[in-house]
Amino acid sequence: MNIKQLLTEITQAAFATLGVPADTNPAVTVSTRPEFGDYQINGAMSAAKALKTNPRQLAQQLLDALALDDIAAKAEIAGPGFINISLKPQWLASQLQAAVQDPRLGVAKNNAPQTVVVDYSAPNLAKEMHVGHLRSTIIGDAVVRCLEFWGDTVIRQNHMGDWGTQFGMLIAHLEDKLAAGIDLEQVALADLENFYREAKKRFDDEDGFADKSRDYVVKLQSGDAHCQKLWQLFIDTSIKHSDEVYKKLNVTLTHDDIKPESAYNPMLHGIVEQLKASGLAVEDQGALVVFLQELADKEGNPSPFIIQKTGGGFLYSTTDLAACQYRSQELQADRIIIFTDARQGLHFKQVELTARKAGLLRADTAYDHCPFGTMMGEDGKPFKTRTGGTVKLAELLDEAISRAGTVVAEKASELSDDERAQVAAKVGIGAVKFADLSKNRTSDYVFSWDAMLSFEGATAPYLQYAYTRVRSILRKAGLDDDYQATIQLLEPQEKQLAVKLLRLEETLQQVMKDAQPNLLCNYLYELASLFMSFYEACPMLKDGIEPDVKASRLMLSILTARMLRQGLDLLGIEVMERM
Ligand code: ARG
Repeated sequence: MNIKQLLTEITQAAFATLGVPADTNPAVTVSTRPEFGDYQINGAMSAAKALKTNPRQLAQQLLDALALDDIAAKAEIAGPGFINISLKPQWLASQLQAAVQDPRLGVAKNNAPQTVVVDYSAPNLAKEMHVGHLRSTIIGDAVVRCLEFWGDTVIRQNHMGDWGTQFGMLIAHLEDKLAAGIDLEQVALADLENFYREAKKRFDDEDGFADKSRDYVVKLQSGDAHCQKLWQLFIDTSIKHSDEVYKKLNVTLTHDDIKPESAYNPMLHGIVEQLKASGLAVEDQGALVVFLQELADKEGNPSPFIIQKTGGGFLYSTTDLAACQYRSQELQADRIIIFTDARQGLHFKQVELTARKAGLLRADTAYDHCPFGTMMGEDGKPFKTRTGGTVKLAELLDEAISRAGTVVAEKASELSDDERAQVAAKVGIGAVKFADLSKNRTSDYVFSWDAMLSFEGATAPYLQYAYTRVRSILRKAGLDDDYQATIQLLEPQEKQLAVKLLRLEETLQQVMKDAQPNLLCNYLYELASLFMSFYEACPMLKDGIEPDVKASRLMLSILTARMLRQGLDLLGIEVMERM
């Protein structure tokens, strides 16, 4: 059920009878205030402009032509030509009744599925995952879950950085250790961060080590078996590490989704040749560069996009061009979505422009780079450890779980130790995810343990608690999961809850269009808050309540619980029966 879409279609039909041009936007929105009804149709103003008539007059004609009898209890003109609509309680109730019967809770399934490639997480291997990859991982995963639920064919691609110049230095350092007789077990690759630091120090300080490292990169990239063997050790260890993080985070990425930079290596030479032959890439001081006038700076200098270094090495950029071709031509993607931090904005503009000009991206493949802002510490600076180092993701998540454990213990519930540990994991991880997902994607945000673990406000614990509240009401009432009752919407709180319950599909559409899970977070928070108001105003367990009123309220509660669980699941956040 999508009320906004229904009203849009009804308005379009009315527009047609009035001779309003078909491309006029009906501009259906949710009403911002209860006195404006439930929905508003604001398209009369632009329609009047198109027909060069008086907007209020046209609003009246539109109102007369709208086929709203079945669904609206009241529809009236306000201001310069807004049409405010109050929906009929009986109609809302029948829509809810249909949602109760439907495992998809009334959300339609996409009847024109698209193939969507989603590039997310993408840590750089041989380093610990850090907070930037946290954002990419959880935002990407939420969007993927929504697209799949809607019915698109989603291809996850974890574009892991396994091919950069850092591997030359790591291999060189490892080789020296092995040559000195230290065996592999003792090299303790598991502490990759430390190993990386050691190698980096030698790279910066030690004569000859940098050159040796560069040689190794070239060797590795041209297929030298020995180098590849050592390289594989780093890759395996890193992937083991990221697996643990993914598991803890409850994200859907698996090994099959890894399509690392190295996978594109065989394509790079051909891509560069093609760009050269077409004249798009030209030589500039020994490097091959695509000059993009479209992205010129203020002085009019074109933006340089280097695709091959002096000396022949390929770059991050070359790989991304190959990825465009693979995704658009081989995978036949209708849409490519990439989640990285905002600092890569220019890079992806350059990639898209170049790939379009070179015909690597089909014209009908949409290319959406979805940037996100920086996670800040409470001091207002980018999030770091107390000593200024990068925060290891695995440790951050452990801390979240342990802090959640304390918070859950304070709730003094009757959970066993075992249950409490499980709840703490769900609350801790949920809190980190919700705090991130609920922020406007493109802004920076402050990471605050206290805020995210609070039981008040828009947080995971609040929503998880709301869910357990509903479940406990249902337990007290002794209801089965397949309880059925007729819904009737008598009180205003019941009606408000009903309208919200019918807005999941509409919300998801917006989440998928703009890759903005924060809209789903808002939706769930508002839903939980409306439930709380309903619960206070509309008793259901007290004596003396009419049986059919009680049954209807319990039914509304059941639907709310299902909706909360479904919505949180789309965000990758788990619920529990008690906490
Ligand atoms: N590994 C990169 C980083 O950590 C992100 C890769 C994103 N995807 C891509 N196709 N470039 O910044």
